[in-house]
Amino acid sequence: MEKPTLITNGKRLDGRDQNTLRPIKISVNPVKNAAGSAYIEWGNNKIVSAVYGPREALPKHTQDPDKAVIKCRYTMAPFSSLEEHGRPGMNRRAIEISKVTKEVFENVILRDLFPGNEISIFVEVLQSDGGTRAAGITCASVALAASGIPMRDMPYAVSVGKAEDTLILDLDKIEDNYSSADMPIAINPRTQEINLLQMDGELTPDDVHRGIEMVIKAGEVITKAQREALLAPYEMTSEKYKASI
Ligand code: CDP
Repeated sequence: MEKPTLITNGKRLDGRDQNTLRPIKISVNPVKNAAGSAYIEWGNNKIVSAVYGPREALPKHTQDPDKAVIKCRYTMAPFSSLEEHGRPGMNRRAIEISKVTKEVFENVILRDLFPGNEISIFVEVLQSDGGTRAAGITCASVALAASGIPMRDMPYAVSVGKAEDTLILDLDKIEDNYSSADMPIAINPRTQEINLLQMDGELTPDDVHRGIEMVIKAGEVITKAQREALLAPYEMTSEKYKASI
């Protein structure tokens, strides 16, 4: 396919402007067997994340006597895309995304509290449309919070990239394929620390600074969606409670 024009008169192919996120909807605990779980719809991405543990790390040689080990498995369901490049399941890309996701949560989980234990984070992509690692991290964060595992912050992630010389937030798959750069970033919103930064393509130092600012600004919306999802079950309960008295 010939490269489409990604931005015309300031509008992207799906009508967004450069700073606009796709719609984000999150719900908690769809997986009843898990310690905590979450489901996210982020644009056309549909992802479920489930967290198990803390529990004794097995096999035993994986244990750390000082802190919990974090295990993470990101996978794309075989039906999640009609993609021509690559196959679903555990391939090099899935191994890479599992690793960077694990590292994001190693940085925030209070691991010292659970020596000898493991915490397993699963991210399963049911439908994909670009930005699944970012949406997966955002979703896994909510699953961890729902599980009650203590964290010093609740990370979110989103990509920023460059198309037709303009920085664009939250690239979908067509933009991801045809943009000149893509930079997924995870932020710890409380401290505004950068927890993950990857880059594919070319950006100037100024682009990187402005991109990070766009991601931090977008955090207001993403963090709000995460918090609202966590509060929703309790608000429902309190409404039911109020109706009953
Ligand atoms: O999803 P993310 O942007 O984090 O990772 P990517 O490797 O940049 O992939 C971009 C998009 O390509 C994914 O979101 C999928 O929509 C698609 N893709 C796919 O359909 N099948 C693959 N094996 C790899 C990527």
